[in-house]
Amino acid sequence: MTRRILIAGNWKMNLIDDIQPIIDNNANRKLDILVCPPFTHLGIVQSAVKDSAVKLGAQNVHDEDNGAFTGEISYSFLKSLGIEYVIIGHSERRHVFNETDEFINKKVRKGLKKGFQTILCVGETETERNANRYKAVIENQLKIGLMGIENNFENIIIAYEPVWAIGTGKTATPFDAEDMHRFIREKVAEIAGNEVASDIRILYGGSVKEDNVKELLRQDNIDGALIGGASLKYEHFNKIIEIAELINI
Ligand code: PGA
Repeated sequence: MTRRILIAGNWKMNLIDDIQPIIDNNANRKLDILVCPPFTHLGIVQSAVKDSAVKLGAQNVHDEDNGAFTGEISYSFLKSLGIEYVIIGHSERRHVFNETDEFINKKVRKGLKKGFQTILCVGETETERNANRYKAVIENQLKIGLMGIENNFENIIIAYEPVWAIGTGKTATPFDAEDMHRFIREKVAEIAGNEVASDIRILYGGSVKEDNVKELLRQDNIDGALIGGASLKYEHFNKIIEIAELINI
């Protein structure tokens, strides 16, 4: 089956310079476009993208519905705003906020149960890559992150984001990225079977920009991109979307 390209902007703790051109320019694209603003701006961006082709996602969420979790946001709150996507286990959540694979798995399971398109991020650090442990690290993140999902794989998206490539300007070469994406697809096949593995979208993230997106998306197993820095200026984000639309997967 053909996997539809997804171009996702992860704004982190930033705002885009202007969202309107993204909405205006992308009405009839043959790909999926997603923006993930900070929690405080989900409402306002939702009003802006409503009735447009641009989808909205959150950058994080808690697995509990409510309770004494100061500073946290639940899936129910996201749902009440009409949010359809969520990013789980981003490397900054793992490394800056010490989220474990087990916690990430709880959030993934809850997201799927609640009907969200759930983007599970995986990625190795530079030390892990240099020590040649990167495949084992990714395999472990996938095994735990996807635990207990059983027949609910339809709304899972994986994002492979090598930590050493995030915000550093160092991108994995298309060859190395493809090698990891193929590996991830093989692991998903072991966990969930061949059909799930061939349908699942695997995004690449880590210093994606206009000049490298084409080669990355041309790889057989790369089905889109999760973009930080280059998603904050509408001109760059739009250009990436335009380039992505010309790629046939
Ligand atoms: P970057 O961030 O594009 O700025 O490297 C990607 C991400 O962290 O999702």
